[in-house]
Amino acid sequence: MKERILVVGSLNMDMSIYTDRIPRTGETLSGRSFIMSPGGKGANQAVAAARLGGFVSMAGCVGADTNGKALLKNLKDNNVYTDHIRQVQDKTTGVAVIIVDKDGDNSIILDAGANASMDIEYISHIEYVIRESDYILMQLEIPMPVIEYVCKIAKKHGKFVVLDPAPAVQLKDELMQNVDLIKPNETECSILTGIDVNSLQDAKKAADIFIQRGVDHVVISMGENGIFYFNGQSEIHIPALHVEAVDTTAAGDTFTGALVSRLATGKSMEDSLKFAVVASGLAVTRKGAQSSIPCLHNVEKYMRREL
Ligand code: RIB
Repeated sequence: MKERILVVGSLNMDMSIYTDRIPRTGETLSGRSFIMSPGGKGANQAVAAARLGGFVSMAGCVGADTNGKALLKNLKDNNVYTDHIRQVQDKTTGVAVIIVDKDGDNSIILDAGANASMDIEYISHIEYVIRESDYILMQLEIPMPVIEYVCKIAKKHGKFVVLDPAPAVQLKDELMQNVDLIKPNETECSILTGIDVNSLQDAKKAADIFIQRGVDHVVISMGENGIFYFNGQSEIHIPALHVEAVDTTAAGDTFTGALVSRLATGKSMEDSLKFAVVASGLAVTRKGAQSSIPCLHNVEKYMRREL
């Protein structure tokens, strides 16, 4: 049986320019190409989870503008239930300006826009949705009091709470105690634990810190070095796919959405981690955020052939 996933998070319109390198301060560079496509860490993870087989609803805020309408349409087209997304009258929809270099690496600057209007009052209106869901998936692109509140009531209702701590900021112990699974990348790991992850031993030390702070499952994504999982007893290391990276935007979001969608269909942690590694590996071979997320068929086909 498929369990229900609720994503509470951000929605942005991404403006991505592809160029050879990131410009220096004061420099004007010509890009090679431009795309405008749906993004936002919350919406990316919602689309990834839905496209990869999950039963997904999203709560968040967009402006009452063209970008907001386009983002909502794209979520609906991807089978994400959008009735809990609020259109805020006097705010613009969140925007991300992204520069992608020749190696597919990116730099992102954000204007939160309507994402900043997410508040506790709104969440208390939709507490019943949290109660009716099984997995609650969050990131850090909406106000921190909202994140802390959602994690607290989700935990109170016995839900499985997943936090992708991006973009990273320090987190309170109480929040950590309400999180079941955390998925930082190396940079986020270093901000949150003070450990630079350069090896599996470093990853284990960092994971231990999260476990001591009250999290049950830790997944550290290490780029080309794959992922490391630890739950205080068992550890799993899965190497990354070897692919030609075109655009790494939303690779982490694809990973987290894929992981949760697979867990929500009752698969084991190890199977779900492998599935998520393949999904995010395939995502970096395509441009854009939501436009790069592969479908279930392609991920399963790759898994049958290569793993
Ligand atoms: O994680 C990638 C996302 O970060 C982009 O889609 C952009 O909108 C920012 O939220």
